[in-house]
Amino acid sequence: MIKNSESNPDAIHAIVTCPDETKEVLAAELRALGANDVELRYRAVACSVPDIETFYELHLKLRTASRIFRIVKEFAAHTEQMLADQAKRIRWADWFSPERTFLVEGVPADRGPGVMGSNAISKTIRESLQAAFAQHTGKIPKVDLKDPKVIVVAFIQKGRCTLSLDTTGKTLHKRGYRTEGHPAPIKETLACAILDLAGYDGTQPLLDPMCGSGTIAIEAAYKALHKAAHIHRKKGEFGFEWLRDFDNDIWRKVSDRVRGERLESLPAPIVASDISEKYVEMARENALRARVERDIEFKAERIQDARPHAETGLLIANLPYGARLSKGDDEALETLYEEIGNNLKKNFKGWRAALLVAEDSPWKFIGLKSTRRIPIMNGSIPAKLLIYDMYAGTKRKPRADEETQETQEIQETGDV
Ligand SMILES: C[S@@+](CC[C@H](N)C(=O)[O-])C[C@H]1O[C@@H](n2cnc3c(N)ncnc32)[C@H](O)[C@@H]1O
Repeated sequence: MIKNSESNPDAIHAIVTCPDETKEVLAAELRALGANDVELRYRAVACSVPDIETFYELHLKLRTASRIFRIVKEFAAHTEQMLADQAKRIRWADWFSPERTFLVEGVPADRGPGVMGSNAISKTIRESLQAAFAQHTGKIPKVDLKDPKVIVVAFIQKGRCTLSLDTTGKTLHKRGYRTEGHPAPIKETLACAILDLAGYDGTQPLLDPMCGSGTIAIEAAYKALHKAAHIHRKKGEFGFEWLRDFDNDIWRKVSDRVRGERLESLPAPIVASDISEKYVEMARENALRARVERDIEFKAERIQDARPHAETGLLIANLPYGARLSKGDDEALETLYEEIGNNLKKNFKGWRAALLVAEDSPWKFIGLKSTRRIPIMNGSIPAKLLIYDMYAGTKRKPRADEETQETQEIQETGDV
């Protein structure tokens, strides 16, 4: 249960989803943006938001969230009958107009005999919702499976149903600046989580020497410039814009204020490079679409030849996994990882490196002692984020908390 902010009648209760291993990062983002009662759940963070302005602002700014669900009601639902009865009691017409098309997503968290499946949950809610509309307005909203304006989400776990409205619309990891073409782009939300886990606060010089389509550098530029992740979404693309209580004046006021927070220029330079000129060009074009092209320096260069552009800074890269077609490929990858380690050791003293590597890549060939290892899923690939601090002077002992963090196990997950 969400610990209710009973004292605030305007509080909006929400569930914000993300991969399970990055929920701490999302919780920190939510707290910083003014959410209360922040509570970690499976692949999600529950919270209460003090008012509609803050709620709109979260939609513009959250960098590591996948979807935001505004809670309508939570209740016991051990059977289809209980689910139907409760869903029928809701005054759905207060939430959205019968002119809007809708879709119901049933999400069962439990498995086993007697447990309601996804189809049964959505059918029950859909029929109850339409019956409630018929009773209260005499009109019935139509279902649209492809492009609904309103998405109702019914999540059932251990006999409790959380009924909510998806206020995001398109999932938030789809920022819209990337085109197809790179074979292994990292999700925008994961790039943001990695930046935060590596300790990037937007004021340090940053280098991604294997930039591919440019995701890490582009997301870093957004963070450093205080540019909201979803500020370029078009009218009608957020789900909350189709709800009954959508307030266009407040929305415009919040959007204008957030737009005005963007800094004129970066506090510290961001450099993105890749061995492939084609990918460097692709990254530049993506940055242009994201409107941060002038803030990032792009160049074609091998990581083995990369050199620091400042005394201290952060090098963040998502290493190639390798197709593992033959022994020759394995050896080439081992050599690459070894050469990366050698370059870091020799040339990047005073820097921190955060490398995302696949679990079964030859990451040991990097040959440096990591300060932290954070298990993480890169899509469906088990991976880990290796953090190395290259000390300028004699190597200090890792702090006690760093040692515990190194053994931290975070479970496999994906997006809800
Ligand atoms: C896993 S991809 C990075 C994807 C990127 N994070 C994105 O979101 O698109 C690895 C990149 O490393 C590049 N690469 C491979 N070997 C390299 C080398 N020796 N030096 C620099 N880049 C290299 C590849 O061209 C590829 O774009």
